[in-house]
Amino acid sequence: MTTTPILILGGRGKTGRHVAGQLQAHGVPIRLASRSSEQRFDWHDESTWITAAAGIDTAYLAPLVDPPGLAQAGRFVKQAAADGLRRVVLLSGRGVGSPGREFAVYQGQLELENAVKDSGVDWTIVRPAWFMQNFSEDFIHGQVVAGELRLPAGDGAEPWIDTEDVADVMVTALLNEKHTGETYSLSGPRTLILTEVAAELSAATGRQIGYVDVEPEKHVAEIVGSGASLDEAEALRDLFTVIRNHRSEYVSDGVRQVLGREPRDFTDWARSAALTGAWST
Ligand SMILES: NC(=O)c1ccc[n+]([C@@H]2O[C@H](COP(=O)([O-])OP(=O)(O)OC[C@H]3O[C@@H](n4cnc5c(N)ncnc54)[C@H](OP(=O)(O)O)[C@@H]3O)[C@@H](O)[C@H]2O)c1
Repeated sequence: MTTTPILILGGRGKTGRHVAGQLQAHGVPIRLASRSSEQRFDWHDESTWITAAAGIDTAYLAPLVDPPGLAQAGRFVKQAAADGLRRVVLLSGRGVGSPGREFAVYQGQLELENAVKDSGVDWTIVRPAWFMQNFSEDFIHGQVVAGELRLPAGDGAEPWIDTEDVADVMVTALLNEKHTGETYSLSGPRTLILTEVAAELSAATGRQIGYVDVEPEKHVAEIVGSGASLDEAEALRDLFTVIRNHRSEYVSDGVRQVLGREPRDFTDWARSAALTGAWST
């Protein structure tokens, strides 16, 4: 077992937190690095990069969602590889490089994947569907609590995935070199449109939660108004457009490929998130 810590970039986030916890449970040393961790790391402040990656062989890399942040992640990998980084497990996005995704955010993800491949490190790329935890931990959490999902997804469906399934795949890839050179697409077991998501969340919480299909540019304005940067809001708009255009209505079998089991269903996840107080006010 390695005594060199695994670097976790994004280690307090929706996947990184579970990756960090599982590695610690396996007795693997980790080094968390983000703006709020003891080892400070900021994608937008290159002066924080060298010490964060010093002496590291292997990194879990959860980049920012917007194109400038994705470009910074590519620069980081190139620099860290020159300084001795040997292996990267990258969180990317499902459908990268596929038709119907001619948007800057997908181009940024594709360029980051290529930057990782070109850097000379051993790599595993994981491309998950949208996370169930967006409804419980991230920008949609407040909408669930307020009883109204306001999203630009039209009547498109998405095979939402539990980030604990994503983390199980990441940890397996980090600990087993046989996953080197593989790209895995992950999703949950079934697609749900947003009215079905709202119904699931209503059943799980015992509260009435509706869905309003918000026009994409209006959504950009709404989430910029709630504190997101324009880059992030436009990236989310483009990611939602893929759902809106019915381009994401298929399941992927990466969880079964890597873990030999099925991914968790939305109903089961929503019930247990409600029981653990995700939407208690
Ligand atoms: N959300 C989804 O449904 C989904 C689905 C597929 C793929 N993805 C991909 O997953 C990636 C991460 O998204 P996420 O929504 O899962 O992330 P997240 O949960 O919001 O986690 C963000 C993490 O990054 C850190 N962070 C934020 N800004 C930072 C900065 N300037 N410098 C350094 N660290 C920073 C945060 O910690 P600090 O606050 O301490 O810095 C936190 O640990 C994105 O590339 C996205 O495209 C997301």
